[in-house]
Amino acid sequence: EKGDYPYFMLKEIAEQPQAVADTLAGSLVDGRVSLPGLGLSEQCIRELTSVVVIACGSSYHAGLIAQQAIERWTDLPVHVEVASEFRYREPKLRSTTLVVAVSQSGESMDTLMALRHAQQAGATVVSICNTRGSSMARESHGVLYTEAGTEIGVAATKTFLTQVAAGYLLALHLAGVRGGQTTDGLIEVAEALADIPRAARQLLATVPQLRALAASLADRDAVLFLGRQLGYPVAMEGALKLKELAYLHAEAFAAGELKHGPIALIEDGLPVVVVMPSASQQPLLHEKMMSNIQEVRARGAVTVVIAEQGDESVDACADAVVRMPTTHFMLAPLLASIPLQILTCELALARGCDVDQPRNLAKSVTVE
Ligand code: F6R
Repeated sequence: EKGDYPYFMLKEIAEQPQAVADTLAGSLVDGRVSLPGLGLSEQCIRELTSVVVIACGSSYHAGLIAQQAIERWTDLPVHVEVASEFRYREPKLRSTTLVVAVSQSGESMDTLMALRHAQQAGATVVSICNTRGSSMARESHGVLYTEAGTEIGVAATKTFLTQVAAGYLLALHLAGVRGGQTTDGLIEVAEALADIPRAARQLLATVPQLRALAASLADRDAVLFLGRQLGYPVAMEGALKLKELAYLHAEAFAAGELKHGPIALIEDGLPVVVVMPSASQQPLLHEKMMSNIQEVRARGAVTVVIAEQGDESVDACADAVVRMPTTHFMLAPLLASIPLQILTCELALARGCDVDQPRNLAKSVTVE
């Protein structure tokens, strides 16, 4: 079943361009998004007053990316919450609240219980799900299926990336029905989204570079990740993957928070992975991130920078630069996540860990 790959994780990382293409297929035609499976009428979408996303783990990170897309492209406020915390604070929900449960398995008990709570409170509930007929799919008004196929590796890779893609589809759909409220050209975004599988394929070629990098970092005790805006949930996902697969202490920070405390952690030889904003499309954020890299490097950090093609400004302050193709900056998480998955996989292998079956973890967590 693993074909030419020694591990399912490597195989599933390589399957991502196709999985994303399959998730987009049918829903995205000529720059227009239609999601009939959601079962939401145009009137229902126009009447929405807010969106709440509930999820756990990697799915939560996909939700954080969807939040930024929905808030940027529509007039709807979006709140994202870890599912295990959701119902205990008795959130205020109404029929015009769209609750989106994001779950690969459709069975995570925390998310399922949060979904049921939202249903009982009368909210409009849909799910982004990879498993047909799962509990969440059955108990939602409508479903947006990710088409990742079966994922054998315990850590989410292709299911995560397809959730991110589905989040963009949902955001574009809501924006299309409610009338765009944004300076982004949404047709242009949709076209860039359709081009992601091609760009993602190019990133698979970073394996040899990341394998060499992983070999040089395998003996470290901790790794920090920095991101800003859309790069922040990407950094969070990178840190989660590294914890679960390489058993390394890994933590992500919004780069602006560094100076409020975490910078005290920086010491000689500490690897810091930086998810760079687009130099051409987000010059202000880019400049701020450049300062952050310089700050940590001046204190001895080894900096690994994920940057878009052509961004040469990072060369001078990075110990290693991983290049990704340029895309619309809102979609960059679909590309930037891939080298982080590969780096984690290679680091875990270099440390002798089982990347398909990490210790203490189950594929689907059906207890609360
Ligand atoms: C991380 C991972 C977990 C899951 C989480 C939610 O690699 O796999 O964090 O993302 O347990 O699972 P689902 O999406 O099935 O609800």
